Amino acid sequence: MEFMAKLITCEGIEGSGKSTQILNLATHLRNQGREVIVTREPGGCPIADDIRRILLDPANQQLCPTAELLLYAAARAQHVEEVIRPALAKGAIVLCDRYIDATIAYQGFGRGLDLALIDQLNQVASSGLLPDLTLLFDLPVETGLGRALARNAVALENEGRFEAESLAFHQRVRDGYLQGASQSARFSIIDATGTPEQVSERMTRRVDAFLGAS
Ligand code: TYD
Repeated sequence: MEFMAKLITCEGIEGSGKSTQILNLATHLRNQGREVIVTREPGGCPIADDIRRILLDPANQQLCPTAELLLYAAARAQHVEEVIRPALAKGAIVLCDRYIDATIAYQGFGRGLDLALIDQLNQVASSGLLPDLTLLFDLPVETGLGRALARNAVALENEGRFEAESLAFHQRVRDGYLQGASQSARFSIIDATGTPEQVSERMTRRVDAFLGAS
């Protein structure tokens, strides 16, 4: 059986569990015999990973919002060109942890940067490549941040620049995602509350339905 190339992106606020679920989804789809590539933004290839380091370094508090926006766009341009397009050309399913909608939600709704400008930059950086399906892992901000804080306390991550933002910031990010999802048919909102097994079950049901239908 011939499988079709697809770009599936995962989005959500900090602590939504999407990074765990994307691995579960990869396993699920590989068990169906599909070729799957898992990647993430910012990053996904060496040059974009270098840019990621600048973006997520908690020491870079002075990074101004416009520079931040352009760095996310630069990392995306490299990643789309070097990783995503070639993988799709091979017929793979590409699972990407965050993509253009993260820029709309974080830089647009979170930081308050101009949404029309962000759309233009997303268009340039992605060379017009839209996801076939976007899974939005949605949950209350308090629940997500609670999970993220618990995880950081254990792992002592040094990538906490956004996790240090206010509750109001993350609320705007969540609202931005939900607004985007309400305006575009490529979104599927996954209830991200409950156990990882419950969320995984909700997600695989949706994705199987999507791939079965397309
Ligand atoms: P990461 O550690 O991958 O966060 P998570 O595990 O919660 O997904 O870091 C990605 C961070 O970058 C996250 O806080 C969201 C932010 N981000 C943007 O602000 N804009 C973007 O365009 C992208 C891709 C990410």
